[in-house]
Amino acid sequence: MNTLIIYVSIHHRNTEKVAKVMAKALDAELTKPWGITPKELLNYDLIGFGSGIYWWRHHWSLLKLVEELPMMKGKRAFIFSTAGMNIPFYNHRQLKRKLKEKGFEIVGEFSCRGWDTNGWLAKIGGINKGHPNESDLERAKKFAEKLRRNLHPSPL
Ligand SMILES: Cc1cc2nc3c(=O)[nH]c(=O)nc-3n(C[C@H](O)[C@H](O)[C@H](O)COP(=O)(O)O)c2cc1C
Repeated sequence: MNTLIIYVSIHHRNTEKVAKVMAKALDAELTKPWGITPKELLNYDLIGFGSGIYWWRHHWSLLKLVEELPMMKGKRAFIFSTAGMNIPFYNHRQLKRKLKEKGFEIVGEFSCRGWDTNGWLAKIGGINKGHPNESDLERAKKFAEKLRRNLHPSPL
């Protein structure tokens, strides 16, 4: 199974830490939205889409890439994010809707807190300093391992 993870991580590289752990567990390639064409995505069976949350949604370049995709029937996707306020049902809603519109089956979602020094938060050193931490990354690893097991059940 060919697996790809597409991510954007511009604030403190918080999401990059998560993306790298997941890529290792899933034996996946890593790229950015601007590093791949919609046509090239067709070579993958499972695709992870993740970024920090900027103004209550994923990075615009990730959303734009999904908009430009052809219908992706039979392809599986998972969504991940890091955010100052970890409320995935809200933060993931736009990306999730767009992926579904393109025919993806969403097989999992992961999110955790990320160090956030946006705007006035910088004055107090930000929030969630140190996140994603070891325990967040362990959870990300377990999430990816579970995806791998579920999609590749080992023979009895
Ligand atoms: C411009 C900007 C806007 C942000 N907007 C939100 C937001 O709407 N909700 C939230 O929970 N966190 C918000 N954050 C915090 C980031 O989601 C958080 O720091 C995230 O971990 C950044 O990931 P990154 O280091 O991978 O870019 C924002 C950060 C920046 C820089």
